Amino acid sequence: MRLLITGGCGFVGTNVAHAARLRGDEVHVFDNLSRWGSGENLAWLQAHGGVRFHYGDIRNRNDVEGVVRAVKPDGVIHLAGQVAMTAALRDPRRDFETNVVGTFHLLEAVREYARGAGFLYSSTNKVYGDLSWVAYEETATRYVARDFPEGFGEETPLALSTPYGCSKGAADQYVVDYAKMYGLRTVVFRHSTIFGERQFATFDQGWVGWFVQQALEVRRNPEREPFTIAGNGKQVRDVLFADDLVRCYFAALERINDISGEVFNIGGGVSNSMSLLELFAHLEEVLGVKLRYRSEAWRPSDQKVFIACIRKAEELLSWRPVVDKITGINAMIRWMEARERGEA
Ligand SMILES: NC(=O)c1ccc[n+]([C@@H]2O[C@H](COP(=O)([O-])OP(=O)(O)OC[C@H]3O[C@@H](n4cnc5c(N)ncnc54)[C@H](O)[C@@H]3O)[C@@H](O)[C@H]2O)c1
Repeated sequence: MRLLITGGCGFVGTNVAHAARLRGDEVHVFDNLSRWGSGENLAWLQAHGGVRFHYGDIRNRNDVEGVVRAVKPDGVIHLAGQVAMTAALRDPRRDFETNVVGTFHLLEAVREYARGAGFLYSSTNKVYGDLSWVAYEETATRYVARDFPEGFGEETPLALSTPYGCSKGAADQYVVDYAKMYGLRTVVFRHSTIFGERQFATFDQGWVGWFVQQALEVRRNPEREPFTIAGNGKQVRDVLFADDLVRCYFAALERINDISGEVFNIGGGVSNSMSLLELFAHLEEVLGVKLRYRSEAWRPSDQKVFIACIRKAEELLSWRPVVDKITGINAMIRWMEARERGEA
């Protein structure tokens, strides 16, 4: 395939681009390298060969049209985005321009110059809002949503809230609608937590990676200041290792004719769900550290539990995660240790 990956030097993009090269695709990555680590990811992709880089800004119509017209992709994986809730609250205009206007430019460019391309969009569980209408139980380590034993499905009502939730949700709906109105071959994936190698996590985004990093710092310096967490640490997400997400995207592109206009909730599912406190317990055990943290206020619109019900993806994509959460987290620890040694 000829693939165009926007945000292709980010965490997910780098994993997809690398895997696509390995299977023989012609891979074009489009990125403005604004994210910490994306320059390093580009250097890594280039060191592994074969990926073509297009510098550009998704907010700029000319940049977007130019790359779509030049590449004429058969597949577009749209990952470029403003990805942090906190940054969206600080600068909602930038968030809107990146996530809504950028996605709109890309849809229009594909409609004009690459009409037949499969188009995958990475949306978020945040489009379901804070899920405050759900009944929760609280155990020693996590919240539990007993009425949703298989997690939350795609029929969960949309409840756009916070600038980030609104911008991702608006883009998500445009992507769905372009399949209906213009016959584009679009698919939306609503992701919860994705983690893995090549992820440059920050306090704002990428919590699994961020706390692995904190734990490694505690191992280096057990006396360091406690780190902070938002809320009480019992919030739960289903975590998905990047390799599994890559397989999901490839499965979708293969079946694009049958799934255009569909939405999928994609995560690790119930068996790969964990709370912050449960992650801390695992890190303490494998790294031999004692983690000290301070609880701060909950983030706006934070969900106590989000676990994706992945039944629809199992049925329509013949996909399910194969990397369990512990194997994935241990792989992430090894990658971060290798980076510390300058080996990754
Ligand atoms: N990682 C997760 O847990 C997660 C969860 C839900 C949804 N998502 C979505 O998946 C997508 C990819 O996430 P990620 O974790 O790889 O994020 P990331 O920040 O690592 O990658 C995003 C890439 O987009 C680029 N970018 C940002 N603004 C740009 C612009 N204006 N023009 C061109 N490029 C720009 C960045 O430089 C970066 O390389 C995002 O859209 C995100 O909202 C991710």
